[in-house]
Amino acid sequence: MIDWKLLQDEAILASKFAYAPYSSFPVGAAGLVSDGRIVSGCNVENASYGLTLCAECSMVSNLIMSGGGRLVAALCVDGKGELLSPCGRCRQLLFEHGGDELQLLTPSGAQPMSVMLPWGFGPDDLDQKK
Ligand code: THU
Repeated sequence: MIDWKLLQDEAILASKFAYAPYSSFPVGAAGLVSDGRIVSGCNVENASYGLTLCAECSMVSNLIMSGGGRLVAALCVDGKGELLSPCGRCRQLLFEHGGDELQLLTPSGAQPMSVMLPWGFGPDDLDQKK
């Protein structure tokens, strides 16, 4: 069983660190790792707008810096603490570290990554080409 409430609380906490002076749209992300750890992140914007790092990107950096492992479940929230559906680029980032089985809590309920990013390109595709 996934403790979605705990993950949402962690994402809300992370959103408080957001650096979002341009959009004024803070985002927090939190993920459960296969070993039980919880990792989180916030969005970090840039004066060169297109270089903005999403909260999921920050969370994935936190995942790797705290020892790696597979993401089992993840979610992100806006500044009101409400669930957000991850952007397309972030689905790709999450797919790398959780694969098809990663569960994402969206405003429409929990969905596996295989639904959120069908036919995703990932590490297995590179292996097949070698
Ligand atoms: N944002 C995220 O952090 N994650 C998403 O999945 C969607 C968008 C951020 C980027 C930008 O700082 C702000 O939300 C407004 O687009």
